[in-house]
Amino acid sequence: MNLYQMDDLSNEDIHNVLQVAEQYKRGERNQSFDGRTGTLLFYEPSTRTKMSFDMACQKLNIPVLPFSEATSSVTKGESLYDTVKTIEAIGADFVVIRHPDANYFAQLTDINIPVINGGDGTGEHPTQCLLDLMTIKEQFQEFAGLTVTICGDIRHSRVARSNAFTLNRLGVHVKLSAPEAWQDDTLPFPYLSIDDAVRDSDVIMLLRVQTERHDSPVSLEHYLTSYGLTIERAKRMRTNSMVMHPAPVNRGVEIDSNLIESEKSFIFKQMENGVYVRQAVIDLLLNQGGIHNEKTD
Ligand code: CP
Repeated sequence: MNLYQMDDLSNEDIHNVLQVAEQYKRGERNQSFDGRTGTLLFYEPSTRTKMSFDMACQKLNIPVLPFSEATSSVTKGESLYDTVKTIEAIGADFVVIRHPDANYFAQLTDINIPVINGGDGTGEHPTQCLLDLMTIKEQFQEFAGLTVTICGDIRHSRVARSNAFTLNRLGVHVKLSAPEAWQDDTLPFPYLSIDDAVRDSDVIMLLRVQTERHDSPVSLEHYLTSYGLTIERAKRMRTNSMVMHPAPVNRGVEIDSNLIESEKSFIFKQMENGVYVRQAVIDLLLNQGGIHNEKTD
């Protein structure tokens, strides 16, 4: 079993991952991974995803085989498929991959170890989605009936894609807020202004402006006041509502810098939960043979 996209998981599977992640967080789960090894293949920069998978492996006592694209045979033209096949032959038990190409995993058809998608271009970011779900669940206990507005550079965001469809099937009212140029017609959810969003949402999920994926440069001088979370807007948010952001944050662009560690911000809590969610995903893929049908009670 692989974790490429959130559609690989049923709602029951998602609840299962969250339950196991919560067990790790409470220190109530202890599994043996004797003799197992993993590899983190990152073809795009990362701080949180790579380091939290690394930390998850350390907590599970799973050695990580080091890989750096810059010093590997990728520089000699070795394909992604041949690189992963090599890692499988060397004896790794699973691989986490981040790659700039959306749907890169379509070429990995004959790989026999689990592949966990750490982000595929503008495609999906399933473990980010799972850690976001864990963080929302900790605040509200359940998903059905909540309103979550995803705000910002939606067109270029794999986080928006994974979260919008998954939250929707968990019963959340999903809304979007973005400048016209960054709206995405493939996400069938209503758009609203950031001012309406802060008034009507339980969760304001901000996205990073991904300038590296833009075809032409865009001025961000007035972005915060037109589309971002200012201190004034934060004051108009609902009681108990949450500010989330997958990070890295462009301080002063998506959000006023002073709000990043404010009471409503769960940005660093998201990162903390990322370790537990990744422990859970690795655990279920290695020890249970898959995320499906595990009995956790
Ligand atoms: N949120 C996230 O994926 O961060 P990194 O790019 O630092 O991994």
